[in-house]
Amino acid sequence: MPQVKEITVNSLDTKEFIREKASEISSVVGKGVAINALSGGVDSSAVTMLGHKALGDRLKTYFIDNGIMREGEPQQIASVFKKLGVNVEIVDAQDEFFTALKGITDPEEKREAITQTFYKKVFGNLVKQSGAKYLLQGTILTDIDETVAGIKRQHNVFEQLGIDPQEAFGYKIIEPLVQLRKDGVRKVAEDLGLPASIFNRMPFPGPALSARVIGEATRERISLVRQATSILEQELASVRAFQYMAILHNDRVTGMRNNKREFGQQIEIRCWDSIDARKATPTRLDFAILEKLANRVLTEVPGVVSVTYNIASKPPSTMEAV
Ligand code: XMP
Repeated sequence: MPQVKEITVNSLDTKEFIREKASEISSVVGKGVAINALSGGVDSSAVTMLGHKALGDRLKTYFIDNGIMREGEPQQIASVFKKLGVNVEIVDAQDEFFTALKGITDPEEKREAITQTFYKKVFGNLVKQSGAKYLLQGTILTDIDETVAGIKRQHNVFEQLGIDPQEAFGYKIIEPLVQLRKDGVRKVAEDLGLPASIFNRMPFPGPALSARVIGEATRERISLVRQATSILEQELASVRAFQYMAILHNDRVTGMRNNKREFGQQIEIRCWDSIDARKATPTRLDFAILEKLANRVLTEVPGVVSVTYNIASKPPSTMEAV
């Protein structure tokens, strides 16, 4: 297994990096076509810009609407890129993902179902339709570290697990960001002309909201955690934290509404301080902020009777729940 050589943020020359990677992409793809999936996160956004710099219209960029993204996310991201002259096609793959997730409660099985649906089914079809031989993706060094260490199967890591994408899915994968960590990617993204809303964007996992639903990720349960996420992102927008998230628990607890017993849902809030996601500590949020957040979740998200704030650190916790 080839060792990846890290480029630390301090030793990174962004202009040189961009020149080098764009020229590598051009020479690997040659006169062919490549595709990439944009999620709007800083990694896939940087890859999209880098790929368009190298290949122009010969890179086809898709936003896979897997049904587990946040409120309005596919349209918002497509419109940001339209302003930058990059056409993003939104592909509705909601049914495929919910079918694959049906009945799955185990975290790693859930991640595996998403990986297979993404890479085999959805990208497999897109590759066939577009005639592409290459998929460009924004895997970074931390994804590889944690997957190889067996902590959490990141959705986008193959080679290091002994999986040959050409054999498994029928196309090759190019990973121009694999020597960087998040802080380095942010600098590259800024230099590529992306707006601050993207290069400073909070990380969001590949398995999206399904990483924040403990137990089965059904349409209904995703919708519930999506509503809690919207409230959380509004209320914590001004907090300087690495990442925050709402998690839907599998267990119900007894609550009461309108003087009646309600055996209801539980939402857990996590808000993390971290440099590079390898270690993290809970943000010391002001209690007034937590109270307002909890009140909104309890009144606006149907069926929720309990809101908790997690004060564990990573390790032993991980940042996402699943
Ligand atoms: P964990 O939960 O592993 O999260 O402590 C560390 C960071 O990685 C993000 N994360 C993912 N990102 N694909 C990704 O691209 C994934 O499968 C994945 N799982 C977790 C997480 O949001 C956090 O920023």
